[in-house]
Amino acid sequence: MELRAGRDSDIDTWKEVTLIYNSALKQISTKLEILNDEFQHVHRYNPIEHIKSRMKTSESIVKKLKRHGYESTIQNMIEHVNDIAGIRVICSFTSDIYRIAEMITNQSDINVISVKDYIVNPKSSGYKSYHMLVTVPVYLSDRIVDTKVEIQIRTVAMDFWASLEHKIHYKFEGNAPEHIRNELIDCARMVSELDAKMLSLNDEVLNLSKKTYE
Ligand code: GTP
Ligand code: MG
Repeated sequence: MELRAGRDSDIDTWKEVTLIYNSALKQISTKLEILNDEFQHVHRYNPIEHIKSRMKTSESIVKKLKRHGYESTIQNMIEHVNDIAGIRVICSFTSDIYRIAEMITNQSDINVISVKDYIVNPKSSGYKSYHMLVTVPVYLSDRIVDTKVEIQIRTVAMDFWASLEHKIHYKFEGNAPEHIRNELIDCARMVSELDAKMLSLNDEVLNLSKKTYE
């Protein structure tokens, strides 16, 4: 750990910071599980396939601070690194993504700081996902700490694409050959087509089953 943890008091601070971010992750995960359970209860349907959460390692925090020209201090990390606590929500359909985003936004103790809709505006790599930066209050014995969590919401197909692209990006250290980059962009287009087809198929089936019950 390089985050100025030379002194005992710094190590204590680092431990406390880790505890706070982990608590924030637990809170958001629990909120999402509750929303998913309630949705299942009301609509007989789970919008969430699964949830993954992770805390950024101290090494990648330090790397990111350096990349952005900041000294490696705990204060800088809290202020400038927005994805120390990260949650990825994977769902079946694109419509679920917006449903989940809305449910998160409507929670009165969650404060949405920013939203990046890479579904409407995909990255040049072809990357698609819905990103939210939020804060959630963490209740400690003597104070409340509003803590940042990055939430990424995407479909199973978008997740499949992103994990392969990430592996390729890592393998070539960001400089993949042009034909591979083009193939990935083509795959991203196919992912969007697949997502759209699966959604319309699902809607059609839902409408049919509604009519059967009427
Ligand atoms: P960093 O990328 O974290 O420095 O911050 P940023 O402000 O650019 O945030 P952004 O919302 O663009 O991306 C944050 C995260 O989204 C990344 O850490 C990845 O997990 C994911 N991501 C963004 N772009 C891509 C991409 O092209 N491919 C893949 N596989 N993941 C991406
Ligand atoms: Mg980025």
